Amino acid sequence: MKVLEIQGGHELSGTIRISGAKNSSVALIPAAILADDDVTICNVPEVTDTDALSEILEFLGASVRRASESIVISPKTIQNKEIPKELSKKLRASYYFMGALLGKYKHVEMYFPGGCSIGARPINLHLKGFELLGATIDINDDRYVVDAKDLKGANIYLDFASVGATINIMLAAVKARGTSIIDNAAKEPEIVNVATFLNNMGAKITGAGTSRIKIVGVNKLHGCFHEVIPDRIEAGTYTIIGALIGKYLKIDNIIPEHIESLTSKLIEMGVELEIGDDYLLVNKPSKYNPVEVQTQVFPGFPTDLQQPFMVLTTKCNGKSKVEETIYENRFMHVPYLNKMGANITIKDRVATIKGPTELIGSEVEATDLRAGASLVVAGLGAKGKTIIHNVEHILRGYENIIEKLTDVGAKITIKEI
Ligand code: EPU
Repeated sequence: MKVLEIQGGHELSGTIRISGAKNSSVALIPAAILADDDVTICNVPEVTDTDALSEILEFLGASVRRASESIVISPKTIQNKEIPKELSKKLRASYYFMGALLGKYKHVEMYFPGGCSIGARPINLHLKGFELLGATIDINDDRYVVDAKDLKGANIYLDFASVGATINIMLAAVKARGTSIIDNAAKEPEIVNVATFLNNMGAKITGAGTSRIKIVGVNKLHGCFHEVIPDRIEAGTYTIIGALIGKYLKIDNIIPEHIESLTSKLIEMGVELEIGDDYLLVNKPSKYNPVEVQTQVFPGFPTDLQQPFMVLTTKCNGKSKVEETIYENRFMHVPYLNKMGANITIKDRVATIKGPTELIGSEVEATDLRAGASLVVAGLGAKGKTIIHNVEHILRGYENIIEKLTDVGAKITIKEI
């Protein structure tokens, strides 16, 4: 078991370079299965979630070579076999093997995915898409067998613009016979990144980034070279840290448009921001205005930043509100923030934060990835020492978090207990 120890209250300045997007990489790695030759993906973050997916690829017989930020996947030697429970359960994104294996081999056997406990997180929309493409699905307890004699293009309307379902259906449809249309598709930048990857392999996908994606099936997909986009959630998390304790903190190697919903809220709060072509310069203000935020699908305010962002609202002069609309259970950081001195009450899916309050270092627990990130933000801004348990959650999604924060002046260490 590892813990993070943070000595809070130190001003941060310098540059933090943002890594490749975890939520793109976790789809690109399974998607590599669809190619007939080697695929090179660069700017893949080294986090435990990407490691877990490489492990599944290797289990299936692929060769996976990591060279600094790149990963070279050779899918030629893959054997389509059941992915065991202990591998599927390691993370949410193991569900992308369903779409990728179905697309390539027309047959998948695997267990229900794992991932952060932040709500029910069913995969009914993924399955609906597979069925419309011609697959049959047999579910026995937690074990899924998805099989298709033939995959045929179809029109698929998603009741909710799900990121996972949109990507998984694209993976299954790229090699189907004929044309598929996904309506009410998710528009997140990660969808565009995955569609570009598939097109680099020879797929024919148009409309990614809009709510209607068209996929014209092809017979073969070849190897390719592809780059992962910068991680907008990592960028947003460090920007929030800058807004709390930054002095000209530069968040570098980002696509600022991807976090516009955050930067516009920060400006409303009174945070000083310089927005460059591929960077942000952020400064802590002397006073923060209260704000109201509602999580939404892209380009709305991302649910993945809701928890880190809430820490900032504890500094606002007055009452702020944060509404979580995507997940049923994404407020598990709140009792810990209250333990640290915040004044937050929850009613249904709305958190009301009364500020300003001082945060005091405490012993707390990361219950999920972004809850953990919010406790890191709080610990850095708190007076005294914070100890965060269950750090494993944080290491799923933030590459070199200790080094990145230490380099800009934070006092943060990781310890084995
Ligand atoms: N949903 C359904 N049925 C489905 C699919 C989704 O009801 O078949 C519901 C979910 O239960 C949830 C909502 O739709 O309430 C959103 O789910 P979505 O499918 O969009 O999310 P996801 O694909 O499971 C990805 C990211 C999440 C991120 C969301 C939203 C990955 C591996 N995960 O999850 O990232 O919160 O999109 O942007 O890409 C994180 O990084 O901390 C994280 C949780």
